Amino acid sequence: MNFNELIDRRHTHSEKWDSMERFYGVSPDTGLAMWVADMDFRPPSAVTAALQAEVAHGVHGYFGDESDHKAAVCGWMQARHGWAVAPECVSTVHGLVAGTALSVQAFTEPGDGIILFTPVYHAFARVIKANQRVVVESPLLLRDGRYVMDLEGLAAQLTGREKMVILCSPHNPGGRVWSVAELQAVAAFCLAHDLLLVSDEIHHDLVFAPHQHTVMPLAAPAIRERLVMLTAASKTFNIAGGLTGNVIIENAALRKRFTAAVMAAGSSPNRFGVLMATAAYQQGAGWLDELLVYLEGNRQVFDAGIATIAGLEPMRLEATYLGWVNFAATGLSPLDVIGRVQRDARIAASHGASFGTGGESYLRFTLATPRSRVEEAVRRLPAVFP
Ligand SMILES: Cc1ncc(COP(=O)(O)O)c(C=O)c1O
Repeated sequence: MNFNELIDRRHTHSEKWDSMERFYGVSPDTGLAMWVADMDFRPPSAVTAALQAEVAHGVHGYFGDESDHKAAVCGWMQARHGWAVAPECVSTVHGLVAGTALSVQAFTEPGDGIILFTPVYHAFARVIKANQRVVVESPLLLRDGRYVMDLEGLAAQLTGREKMVILCSPHNPGGRVWSVAELQAVAAFCLAHDLLLVSDEIHHDLVFAPHQHTVMPLAAPAIRERLVMLTAASKTFNIAGGLTGNVIIENAALRKRFTAAVMAAGSSPNRFGVLMATAAYQQGAGWLDELLVYLEGNRQVFDAGIATIAGLEPMRLEATYLGWVNFAATGLSPLDVIGRVQRDARIAASHGASFGTGGESYLRFTLATPRSRVEEAVRRLPAVFP
């Protein structure tokens, strides 16, 4: 796999490249798209082959019989994460934002509180608010340059209206791989306060050695009866356009409620997404191993480049390809920072404030792009932060 190949994604309905001018005022012709969390790489060849076979057959009707797909999901969980889960626990949804929304609808009521450890992936708060639930922010603390959860502070904040915790594991942004002890502490918190735990593990295959991700049911078996696991092939293999994700629930009663919410939404699997995910899980492991080596190189180039700029502090990523940089020490306002990065350096990066409390002085840079673009980004930035 040649991850160095520059693939022109302009005019392909790529959100990252074809919407950057509209959202950031950065032209895709001269700018660098580093906002949306997808990769500028082709997926494993097995994914392309699966789509080619579909096109060659030429009839694209409703998808039926998910047994291959569910077996592939469970096979991946067992092989890569050591978790033996039964296929009947898996529901296929239209991506994990949809999976989050359906979980909110299935397990909470309007007005209920849903806890987020902020800054965190922005769609969580968007979905919670759009469903008339209340976002309860538990700001992460910075310890030795890494995020840690403040469960004591959170306990003091509780009002009794909270029903759910949504944990991002590994964490986006900031790239924390939560330790087993940290996962156990969140799980114990949920049990102690009668909260349902939604563990969004969409980034759990994108982990840098020596860090090791532990899936929540293995870290804290006691939580399995009140756990909703969100996983997907979409980030791992760069097939997010297929909008296919897995909601895995071992508790049969909870699963029944979730299935009812899927039914209420009138949702059924997307043929193209399921075909891609199945092929990726079945045959993509080698590609992923190569990708992780490449991303590690990108992370090093980025961190080294950022470190040369006074006032910029990259968080040390343990997982994800999302560089999270603090600009606070420049003394500039977030608006000034954004202006310099977008207008002067012509880089579209995600604004930290959109991730909630604690994100205001940060920008998030997607590093899953050919190395020459990461090098170009760290060439441009020093000029605008002299
Ligand atoms: C934590 C997290 N969950 C979910 C998603 C998006 O999921 P999907 O594309 O499957 O809706 C993202 C995308 O960046 C993410 O970072």
